[in-house]
Amino acid sequence: MKTALDDLAFFGGPAAFPRPLQVGRPNHIDRQKLFERLGRALDNQWLSNGGPLVQEFEQRVAELAGVRHAVATCNATVGFQLLMHAAGLAGEVIMPSMTFVATPHAVRWLGLTPVFADIDPDTGNLDPECAAGAVTPRTSALLGVHLWGRPCAADALRKVADTHGLPLFFDAAHAVGCSVDGRPLGSLGDAEVFSFHATKLVNAFEGGAVVTDDAELAGRVRALHNFGAGLAGGSPAGGTNAKMSEAAAAMGLTSLEALPAVMAHNRRNHATYRTELKDVPGVLVAEHDKHGLNNHQYLIVEIDEEITGFTRDLLRDVLLAERVGTRAYFSPGCHQLEPYRRLRHAPLPHTEHLARRVLALPTGTAVADEDIRRICEVVRLCAARGHELTARHQAMAPASASPPPQPASRPRPQPRP
Ligand SMILES: Cc1ncc(COP(=O)(O)O)c(C=O)c1O
Repeated sequence: MKTALDDLAFFGGPAAFPRPLQVGRPNHIDRQKLFERLGRALDNQWLSNGGPLVQEFEQRVAELAGVRHAVATCNATVGFQLLMHAAGLAGEVIMPSMTFVATPHAVRWLGLTPVFADIDPDTGNLDPECAAGAVTPRTSALLGVHLWGRPCAADALRKVADTHGLPLFFDAAHAVGCSVDGRPLGSLGDAEVFSFHATKLVNAFEGGAVVTDDAELAGRVRALHNFGAGLAGGSPAGGTNAKMSEAAAAMGLTSLEALPAVMAHNRRNHATYRTELKDVPGVLVAEHDKHGLNNHQYLIVEIDEEITGFTRDLLRDVLLAERVGTRAYFSPGCHQLEPYRRLRHAPLPHTEHLARRVLALPTGTAVADEDIRRICEVVRLCAARGHELTARHQAMAPASASPPPQPASRPRPQPRP
């Protein structure tokens, strides 16, 4: 039990966890089913090129998204590139800056220019009015991001898109299993893209899927992801290799089967965090469900440093010393990162405000109730002594300002969103 600042590992106390907790650990799956599927792929002697497991995965993903077509890809980033190439985009694409850098990177990789527009402070998603204000004669699409699985204001964005004759796409990397008013995310745009990266709620080791009701668009994406094979009239870019393998689909199918249990576990984790932190001033556990049915992939807290007396970054360092890995999703906003810093855009006050405050804490099936209680104990201690914590941190000599070294644990690659 930690009751004094000296109990914190940041100031030399023992770490709260013997082994590190992280954001984005893979969720529990039925290994036997995975091995059976992998065995089947080997028995079939069909390991890639649209095999039966990929076909089944695409069918399941399309059902989940409530659309007619899903094209499984090697990851979401390339899925976006295929989609935007297939849609014939040129010029500018309007998007939020509050997203993983993969979103603007995919646009830029095609020679398009991302134009960042501000977010609605309530949802963290692209604000339709700001999107409308960013339209120019060079705009070729709107690209919303369902941040943390929260639905974008699809109907209002659709009006903006229709007014200007633009396609409306969504980055649904966080949104598998989410819905709004009974409409699954994945079905709100002209096309949307899921990510099945290892850190996602449903993972295919690496993977993605472009989902759409537009048969022609899906056909072009499918051709482009296989070297342009079968594309009537060819394609200026020829095509690429962005196929999903049977091994990835085996994992994706097994992980999809676990989705209801994983969502239920994360929902319980979210409730525990909310209970444990409900009386902590300046620390808000983001409520996702008021925006639609959420998958609770991300457990987000917002730190109001004017109330807590400590910054989000200081809390992140304190938790790291306790061996609790956290992630500041998404901070700084993409507009403050290279190569986007010098791009033209309107002011983004809501993006910058939210980006300063957010911290993703560990959740998922690797995180138990008891872990959450211990994490929250540290947060509560920091909040009870916020100003003292900051003063002690500032008084630390720069050379010793980082937390004291912890006993060596096996280095692990940092998970991504
Ligand atoms: C919002 C968002 N968009 C796109 C991506 C890219 O997905 P992938 O890693 O499958 O390429 C990610 C995460 O990785 C993400 O969080």
